Amino acid sequence: MAPLTLTITRPDDWHLHLRDGSALNTVVPHTASQFARAIVMPNLKPPVTTAALALEYQQRILDAVPAGMQFEPLMTLYLTDNINPAEIAIAKAAGVVAAKLYPAGATTNSDAGVTDIKKIYPVLEAMQKHGMLLLVHGEVTNQDIDLFDREAVFIDQHLEPLRRDFPGLKIVFEHITTQEAAQYVQEANENLAATLTVHHLMFNRNAIFTGGIRPHYYCLPVLKREKHRLALLQAATSGDARFFLGTDSAPHAAQLKEHSSGCAGCYTAPAAMAMYAQVFANAGALHQLEAFASFNGADFYGLARNRSTLTLVQEDEMQPESYPYADAQLKPLLGGQTLSWRLA
Ligand code: DOR
Ligand code: ZN
Repeated sequence: MAPLTLTITRPDDWHLHLRDGSALNTVVPHTASQFARAIVMPNLKPPVTTAALALEYQQRILDAVPAGMQFEPLMTLYLTDNINPAEIAIAKAAGVVAAKLYPAGATTNSDAGVTDIKKIYPVLEAMQKHGMLLLVHGEVTNQDIDLFDREAVFIDQHLEPLRRDFPGLKIVFEHITTQEAAQYVQEANENLAATLTVHHLMFNRNAIFTGGIRPHYYCLPVLKREKHRLALLQAATSGDARFFLGTDSAPHAAQLKEHSSGCAGCYTAPAAMAMYAQVFANAGALHQLEAFASFNGADFYGLARNRSTLTLVQEDEMQPESYPYADAQLKPLLGGQTLSWRLA
């Protein structure tokens, strides 16, 4: 019997880390083989804080797209306490689509992030005025708050006041990981949406501790309990247009994850669509995959939907254990394991 195939409008990745330099040669082709566009995170060292830096970075990404592949990197600005509100209009005119709020210290390369959201109110005012989206890493950084509670606490302490003060600002609550966040988005108005990673749809926090500590499952916000995974899966497959695909694929050299203080981030780009297809198929919701992966994000961002297609096949395929990555190795999540879907 011929295997099941699924052809969908070509998807976009609405949350992606590509890094810089020679790392781009490994990771850009993985994303470009599946996605037409991606929202590129600005947490480089130093961060992408101006339109000029974003455009230079965009060109370096384009230079790493293999001949014959079509891929459009959509650029973002990194918000700091000191960003000049005038930069927003400049960035908007340059085609930058969004700005990212990292609470200082919340995650990888976030030290230059925002220490107090009140400090960037003039910038948020400008974003609201110019129609630039705000992307939020929604975790408090207070060390007194339990790691597993930091997202839920962020909603009450920061997101709710922010939405009240900027009702016209379009906000993406990035890589949500909890039932509280899913429910908050479901109950909110049309200016709030959320991205969902494939690893938070596939795994709960036990994955980090199965038979020993497994650093490749460590990311931020960290994986949560099973009840949270189920709530995220329900949101992703519900048909609610405010949930869409964002892998948060975050490459780190293997030796920096397999380390006494291992880096946060799951590298899911190479088989992202196969993994999302597996999740949706297992949930009996393959018919919802196209809207989640290819329509909802574009619609929320006010961008045209893609016209080309991507075909997936329900057939076993083993993922490589690792890829060469500059002068190191990059290990994808589920590397060396067999996935039940593959690209045609
Ligand atoms: O796990 C993560 N890795 N979460 C983030 O927020 C940042 C990312 C990275 O850049 O490595
Ligand atoms: Zn991220």
